[in-house]
Amino acid sequence: MGDASMRNMSAAEYAASMLPQLTLEEKVKLLAGADMWRTNAIPRVGISQMKCSDGPVGVRGGQFTDGVTAASLPSGVSLASTWDPELIDEMSTILIAECRSKSIDVLLGPTVCIPRTPLGGRNFEAYSEDPFLSGKLAARYIKGIQEAGIATCIKHFAANDQEHRRFFVDAQISERALREIHTQPFEIAVRESNPWSLMTAYNKVNGSYASANKHLLRDILREEWGWDGVAMSDWFGTNTVVPSVEYGLDLEMPGPVKRRGKHLIEAHKQGLISEARIDECATRMLKLLHRVGKSSEPDWKEPGEKAVDLPEHRAIMRRCAAEGIVLLKNEKNVLPLDIRPAMRIAVIGPNAGRAVQSGGGSSDLLPHYRTIPLDAIKQAVDEAGVGAEVAHAPGMQGHRYIPLMSPTVMRNPVTGESGWVLSFWANMDHSGDIVYEEHRKSSILVCYDTLPESLTTGERYSYRGRTILTPKTTGKHWFSLSSCGPGRLLLDGKVILDIPRRWWSPKSPLFMSYGSPEERVQIHLEAGRQYELTLDGISREPEPYEFSFTGDLLREEIQDGGRVGFLEEETRDLMSEAVDLAAKSDLVIMVVGKDREWESETSDMVSMNLPKETDLLISNVAQVNQNTIVVNQTGSPIAMPWLSQVRAVVQAWYQGQEHANALTDVLFGRVNPCGKLPITFPRVYEQNPSSLDYPGHNDRVVYGEGIFAGYRWWDRLQIEPLFPFGFGISYSTFEYSNTRVSATELQFSEQGSESIEVTVDVTNTSDVVGKEIVQFYVSPKTAPRLTRPKRELKGWNKMLVRPGETVTASAILDWVSIAYWDDKRHEWVVDGGAVFEVIAARHSRDIGVVAEFQVGKPAANLRSSRFTVLAD
Ligand code: BGC
Repeated sequence: MGDASMRNMSAAEYAASMLPQLTLEEKVKLLAGADMWRTNAIPRVGISQMKCSDGPVGVRGGQFTDGVTAASLPSGVSLASTWDPELIDEMSTILIAECRSKSIDVLLGPTVCIPRTPLGGRNFEAYSEDPFLSGKLAARYIKGIQEAGIATCIKHFAANDQEHRRFFVDAQISERALREIHTQPFEIAVRESNPWSLMTAYNKVNGSYASANKHLLRDILREEWGWDGVAMSDWFGTNTVVPSVEYGLDLEMPGPVKRRGKHLIEAHKQGLISEARIDECATRMLKLLHRVGKSSEPDWKEPGEKAVDLPEHRAIMRRCAAEGIVLLKNEKNVLPLDIRPAMRIAVIGPNAGRAVQSGGGSSDLLPHYRTIPLDAIKQAVDEAGVGAEVAHAPGMQGHRYIPLMSPTVMRNPVTGESGWVLSFWANMDHSGDIVYEEHRKSSILVCYDTLPESLTTGERYSYRGRTILTPKTTGKHWFSLSSCGPGRLLLDGKVILDIPRRWWSPKSPLFMSYGSPEERVQIHLEAGRQYELTLDGISREPEPYEFSFTGDLLREEIQDGGRVGFLEEETRDLMSEAVDLAAKSDLVIMVVGKDREWESETSDMVSMNLPKETDLLISNVAQVNQNTIVVNQTGSPIAMPWLSQVRAVVQAWYQGQEHANALTDVLFGRVNPCGKLPITFPRVYEQNPSSLDYPGHNDRVVYGEGIFAGYRWWDRLQIEPLFPFGFGISYSTFEYSNTRVSATELQFSEQGSESIEVTVDVTNTSDVVGKEIVQFYVSPKTAPRLTRPKRELKGWNKMLVRPGETVTASAILDWVSIAYWDDKRHEWVVDGGAVFEVIAARHSRDIGVVAEFQVGKPAANLRSSRFTVLAD
């Protein structure tokens, strides 16, 4: 068949015509990755490789560390704080361009798991604790990207909301909570935007690994939702041979293949898996290949990756970041800043003088450029042109681990440029010929996705990194090492740190925790002298395990290497310097928070408090300066023991490369803040919904809060959070009035439900133009048949309102707004005759302005394809 005729077919037609042309071996080849980011090509029939990349808020490309630079966009929680589908469309244009510049077919995002604990290392990547908000935003993201012929991969199905023991933990979730909360964002996205792929979670759900979970993969995803996209495993997360294929996990990622290939063919020969099941997975892979245009490109050659940094992209990122910023407190209207002549402004805090653009883990990437709050504030003050002064004091060192080596102190002895040379031997003793060599820009010397095939066979290898270190100061400097396998750090040929065995510790600073905790040593060095620094390592010894075709298998992966930290001695008393500066300043802007090391994939956080002595620093500064503004950069809620002491609090999340410009836009009033929290900020950690059971016992965590996730929990227990879901203030003030519904009765027929429009008038009562995110919550007025949350978000509308103007915000309600999952009837149910309130509110705790509607009451139970209206 000619390529052109194939291209014109639908995905289903192509798959149906191609499947019979493939041998069993070829079909099996389609079901596993070829390398870290690519699937297998079958040139004989015109199939070329598909290339995946993280995702979700940027496109890193095919190299995890030190690759080509990429646009770094605001993280998921920041994006969700905008509540703005149109901004998501604009962001999609950047992601599409970035995918194209790096030849990406499958973008590994969005992340939509529901943050359950404030300590979740990956909360920043997810959108919201509310499944409706998460699902709707995800659907918009998916639609935008896929319209360009690039697949998205919604992840991680399901309940990957804690990093602690994520490869082993079994999430015990009631069926009702699974449907109404944890699979709900996926369901909304699947029904509204049909993601072409989905990634399974590492964890187990109700006893089985998500990658081989019959209930999740077959019953819900395929049979109930009718979804025909590709389900792929999370990286190294295919835990079985037969069950994963049996239940419809189509793709084992990454390659080279570990669970499938010859094992799957053998399992088939032994009668453990039918060809029909293999065909089902292969069919879905074929559809995906066709959808992304890789089904008829036999001669396709992947071009090199490019860094495309465009001014129009910068502008979108800046706007998107600014609209995600949430103003939490603004006493005496200290913001926007009023810069007066000769004003002394102190910029203090561990995040003020550095670029904290992202949390850590697989969503992190090397940005096209970095912005720094201190620089952006200085620039804005200069632009004010009134002779105000900006001074800076960090107040403390913010790092969690000894920082990576500064580019200015290291030199690659081969290239002469800043960095390291990393050499590899195909033996364990660094002897004979070097088989491969790389030049690295940073001192994270991980061996992951850049290794040649000869080093990914499973045989052990050795590696050596070398740099010339030239310290800037004389003194006792810190060195640190974390290593995956045995590793030694040598200074001028002398071993200074030695890690003799393989490691896998949640305390490791290395990505995925595949490393040892950090070992540190302090050594006297002289400024300007050149020292030879060498990392000698051996790849880890593979862990033996018993193979089984049908049972769970031990996790295997190939990451190796080490991380070298270096810190010159600090002799100043940073806290006192900062407090002294604050005391003689008119205004203090503190930029505090966490970063990619404190808040990261793989390990949950240890505390809801800010790191190290940050709370003390804020409190000491606020004591000497009444005009203290705190800017917090985290992706999760934090405790604020100093809240009453400070004038203003700005929640600035992780916002990508434009974060500092966006921040100054808000601080200086170029943008009126309009973001609202997509997560609740607890007053104390123990009041959060996961406190009943987190991080679990013996690798089992019971989701005791059930359907009362997020704000539903605080409502149920009538606990006042520190800041409620949906909260955020503005430089404008708004009044709500006259909530009304287009019909007082919601009617049903076998075809489904009609819909009702709810509207409210919103008046800007200030003299500043602003945007308001109007939220519509639905609340049962008559006693529900089964327990229900007090109120649930079912719509929102973001409105621009000019001073004195009144605009009308609206949302559409239908059966989805009032249905619940009945775990006895195993279906979505609507209580016929029930009365609901719909509340137009500023946030989840606002009493708001209320209207009412009633559900039509059928004479007998009324069944439609997706739900039943009960007669009584
Ligand atoms: C993460 C995924 C990511 C994958 C590839 C895993 O560790 O859980 O979200 O897409 O790595 O980097």
